Amino acid sequence: MTIDLEKIIKTDQEHFVHPQFHPNDHKQPFVWVSGQGAKLRSADGREFIDGLACLWNVTLGHGRKELAQAAMRQMEQLAFTSSYIGHTNIPAVQLTEKLSQLCYPSINHFFFSSGGADANDTAIKTARFFWNSHGKPEKLKIISREHGYHGVTLGAMNATGIPAFWQMFSSKLPGFVHIPSPYPYRYVSNNPSVSQGRAAADELEKAILGEGAETVAAFLAEPVQGAGGLMVPQDEYFPRIREICDKYDVLFIADEVITGFGRLGRWFGLEHWKVEPDIISFAKGITSGYLPLGGIGMSDRVFKVLAEAPPDRRWMHAFTYSAHPTCCAVALATLEILEREGLVEEAGRKGKKLLAGLKQLASLENVGDVRGLGLMCGVELVEDKATKRPFPSSRKVGARLYQECAKRGLVSRFKDDIYMLAPAFVISDADIDQCVNILGDAIPPACGNWGSDV
Ligand SMILES: Cc1ncc(COP(=O)(O)O)c(C=O)c1O
Repeated sequence: MTIDLEKIIKTDQEHFVHPQFHPNDHKQPFVWVSGQGAKLRSADGREFIDGLACLWNVTLGHGRKELAQAAMRQMEQLAFTSSYIGHTNIPAVQLTEKLSQLCYPSINHFFFSSGGADANDTAIKTARFFWNSHGKPEKLKIISREHGYHGVTLGAMNATGIPAFWQMFSSKLPGFVHIPSPYPYRYVSNNPSVSQGRAAADELEKAILGEGAETVAAFLAEPVQGAGGLMVPQDEYFPRIREICDKYDVLFIADEVITGFGRLGRWFGLEHWKVEPDIISFAKGITSGYLPLGGIGMSDRVFKVLAEAPPDRRWMHAFTYSAHPTCCAVALATLEILEREGLVEEAGRKGKKLLAGLKQLASLENVGDVRGLGLMCGVELVEDKATKRPFPSSRKVGARLYQECAKRGLVSRFKDDIYMLAPAFVISDADIDQCVNILGDAIPPACGNWGSDV
């Protein structure tokens, strides 16, 4: 197939409103045309390591014929049917059974959306429903964290702790509160009598007491913060969070949209700290990104409230594409491959290798912090290592690093001056080494002061 690349780019600019749209970003877009494993190929014939598995989601890698076949089989038989009142479908039922085997022991009931933001909106509404059904409708606030990313629908946007996502949409709604992130590199505790992780978790208690526990429905957090800059919490953080949630009757929602299905080397992220949430939101890796599917899992305690509600006070929540049979069939095939190929364990092993490689870059002049858990790593650049002083944002160091890496065959994402890596679980050891080498070569020129051509 010949591609008229100039025409594609011109048409893209004329008609395509992209996510987080600004025309400056689409003067010379990558036009992706194919992929294999952890590599992507652009229309002009260049090959790149896909450093973030696209959007943290293509965990099995590109070009998996089994997933295409699973979709084709289901589409040929019954592409879509409703799962509304009194209707169900077989792949969705099988998927709920499989999820209840894989997910935290107390989470056994599942609802499906199409992605992560609508999963988080579902989780937020479910927490409010839970307390409303207990006769506590005033218990409705959602506490989440700075640097948290939960998606861009209205509820998820309000929980997101990155102001750029609200500022042009008439700011935040009432009922959403943010506390500092545990961010080990930068969190400054004002309580020297406890560890940093405990102090960061105690921020939740402070916020609950400040708002009034009788007004707080849930705490919402990613096990490892992703899009906000890749922050791995201290080991004491989540166990203490669980204690605080229990103490004040606050539900704990784990946003496992990135960390679910193996990304951290465990099926679900909080397993690292032996903590269970009340509600989990998921998306992305459940289909390895091959089709859109998200959802929530509820604990037995939360589900009981839905199951025992009178019909006129039911959980009135639904999407046309809830439990889409084709998406569920692809999810089943994805989980089967993850298990058969031992890819959750592989993600853990490869993550350790990647992190060890990146740690070798810590001696570079501007590498302030290297962090990661499982196959999710971040490198934070600073102007001054001793004081952790960031570069002035006008230097656009993160954007420069992105470009320097792309020139050398690696595409991934950055947030401010933090470069993030989360490749497919099938990435080869040689490509992991190559990511490290490319970053090692790209960081010095990205940090150099060479005018403003970004
Ligand atoms: C942790 C987390 N939650 C929610 C979302 C939103 O998911 P979606 O873009 O599918 O709405 C994302 C997307 O990156 C995410 O990383």
